[in-house]
Amino acid sequence: MLRACSLADLEDGKPFPVELADTPIVLVRSGDEVHALRDECTHAEIALAEGELTRKGLECWLHGSCFDLRTGAPSSPPATEPVAVYAVTVDGDDVLVDPDCRTN
Ligand code: FES
Repeated sequence: MLRACSLADLEDGKPFPVELADTPIVLVRSGDEVHALRDECTHAEIALAEGELTRKGLECWLHGSCFDLRTGAPSSPPATEPVAVYAVTVDGDDVLVDPDCRTN
């Protein structure tokens, strides 16, 4: 597990990009939960951190596919492949992510 940021860095519902071990990752805090997804849309090489959180998940700003925060699955085309989701642990104020551990 690598320290990604402080929990206080994460605003609820606001994507927060980090890079860990050469892996682009976007963190999303949703209530008490923190999710870590690969920061790259599976339709094209677009940073998901530039999108918005919607009821369906993290929305790619370019063509509108939304990725589920837990499964990484897109809710609608044009993306058809899930984005990688990584293991996250919150330890006190530290947000830890394992970029080598996909959970989907
Ligand atoms: S680049 Fe993300 S949906 Fe097309």
